[in-house]
Amino acid sequence: MNVKLDSSVISNWFNAVRMMDESNKHKLLDAFWHTQIDAKAWLIENIRPHIKPNSNIYIFGGWVGVLSSMLCQQGLQLNNVFNIDIDPWCKKVGFTICQPFLNNPIRFITCDMANFEYIDSPDIVINTSTEHVSQETYDLWYSKIPEKTLVVVQGNNYFSCDQHIRCTEGVERFCEVNHVVNNLFKGELQNSIYTRYMAIKVK
Ligand SMILES: C[S@@+](CC[C@H](N)C(=O)[O-])C[C@H]1O[C@@H](n2cnc3c(N)ncnc32)[C@H](O)[C@@H]1O
Repeated sequence: MNVKLDSSVISNWFNAVRMMDESNKHKLLDAFWHTQIDAKAWLIENIRPHIKPNSNIYIFGGWVGVLSSMLCQQGLQLNNVFNIDIDPWCKKVGFTICQPFLNNPIRFITCDMANFEYIDSPDIVINTSTEHVSQETYDLWYSKIPEKTLVVVQGNNYFSCDQHIRCTEGVERFCEVNHVVNNLFKGELQNSIYTRYMAIKVK
């Protein structure tokens, strides 16, 4: 997929791995599987035409900030990229992963997506961790997104991963449970293990 990755940023990704204690190294390396990077490149390619200058982008379940750092390498003029995750470890590691963009424009927030209150009005809201949250959490999170916001969601059919509590079979079912019918985009990205789904709509 056609996204730019700066060598200086890739060095920071490796620094984070190098500095990680052995007990957490595998947890961190999971963020760099080719399936993860491809899915994020796929997302960037598809939202690029919708990104206006000075956008505020919110990424929920943003993990250690790989998508945030990839977004900031694309030469887009972004106002804020909020990387929100419930796990405080993500913010700590994310400071190294996203070092060149820390505080401007990337800001890390530790919060349950269900309880999140928007700071600046969002232009784009992204959730790449829809399979990790209950329907109740997802519905509460979705209900708080202001009308007219561009919403981008990803999920998958990787049922056998024990952290996945809300997988779906097929993109149509994925769109239904995530309230993203009547979308601008819906698609499937097959890898050697599972299929990832993505949908984009204006709420
Ligand atoms: C394995 S990771 C990311 C997986 C995702 N498919 C991706 O590629 O970005 C899932 C993340 O969701 C986060 N998460 C789970 N429940 C959450 C919640 N209620 N609010 C915010 N983040 C949450 C976890 O802490 C974890 O960092």
